[in-house]
Amino acid sequence: MGFKQYHVISLIAALLSLQTSLSRAAVNGGYWIPQSGIEASDIDSTLFTHLFCAFADLNTATNQLSISAECSSFTQTVQQQNPSVKTLLSIGGGSVPSSNFNNMASQPASRQTFITSSINLARSNGFLGLDLDWEHESTSAEMTNLGTLLTEWRTAINAEAANTGHQPLLLTAALAVTPHVDPSTSFPTQAIANALDWVNVMAYDFHDPNNSASLTHSHANLHDPTGAISGSSGISAWISAGVPSKQLVLGFPFYGYAWKLQDPNNHGLLAPASGVDMSVGGGTPKYNQIEPFITQAQATVVFNSTYGTNYCYSGTTWINYDDTQTIAAKVSYAKTNNLLGYFAWHLAQDNNWALSKQASQTWGS
Ligand SMILES: *[C@@H]1O[C@H](CO)[C@@H](O)[C@H](O)[C@H]1NC(C)=O
Ligand SMILES: *[C@@H]1O[C@H](CO)[C@@H](O)[C@H](O)[C@H]1NC(C)=O
Repeated sequence: MGFKQYHVISLIAALLSLQTSLSRAAVNGGYWIPQSGIEASDIDSTLFTHLFCAFADLNTATNQLSISAECSSFTQTVQQQNPSVKTLLSIGGGSVPSSNFNNMASQPASRQTFITSSINLARSNGFLGLDLDWEHESTSAEMTNLGTLLTEWRTAINAEAANTGHQPLLLTAALAVTPHVDPSTSFPTQAIANALDWVNVMAYDFHDPNNSASLTHSHANLHDPTGAISGSSGISAWISAGVPSKQLVLGFPFYGYAWKLQDPNNHGLLAPASGVDMSVGGGTPKYNQIEPFITQAQATVVFNSTYGTNYCYSGTTWINYDDTQTIAAKVSYAKTNNLLGYFAWHLAQDNNWALSKQASQTWGS
């Protein structure tokens, strides 16, 4: 092969790979729940590339989906401030039993009904994508059914796009922080990598004051020097299991958990505690409850860079949460490690958009 031909071929190869990486636009995402404290029209959609309306409900008798009026008008509403923001309809949620999805996903006919219903609902309400929030899967049968569902869903989405001439709908899923449920059960990572545009990795809720009552803990730390689960170890596990970094989106919480310290003078991470402190936000305070608490109680705010997490304390109240330093650390991590982006759960918990702004600025800089 001549020198010139070689260069033409490498140029074409470079353009093709550039096109592939460009086709996956970065995700600066956030979930909105109707009735969560802010209206869709209150969302500062200029801070986001992708917004998720949570949730569409699965009817277990018919396998059809339905949505609220708020989700129905969501796209039109949030595109008023930011016409290029992409909206996705999120299906399910953490309060839905895994068996509801598994029953649907275990039979070809019910899968088909569900898939058709989801595509019709997205198209008729202006959504550009669908997001599956089937949570708490744990058995290998559930993992197999999830894989089959995603594979058939992708085929149906591509067929619909080919038939109508539309761009294919985006297809995403919010999944556990690690693909490994236990040593013998893992998520169907090959089907996930082939079918999904990306995975929203739910890197939070590792500990709470009920299940880790005797020591203060971090519930969404980016790192853990002891090798326990963390955001970064979960992301690494997804990559090792075959889902490329450019298909992973790191999730962070806009809420914290409150512990009661045994000794107000012993207030670090992993300090002796006696369960939940209900005095702020009922033990699960939102960021917009934590910030006023810090001001009123003159609480001390700490960023622990070893763990990549914030906490604050005053008296015996100790709260672990993501403040602006943690958000900046996580977004920098996502960028440095070539992830597709980040998402927040959930928008009504932010405090005057402080965390959303921090995330957007860190990603953009
Ligand atoms: C802990 O348990 C109490 C009592 O059952 C409950 O009210 C609270 O919501 C729980 N908190 C968390 C963080 O799970
Ligand atoms: C983070 O917390 C751990 C556990 O309390 C502590 O050992 C470590 O020194 C802290 N790191 C920083 C940078 O303060």
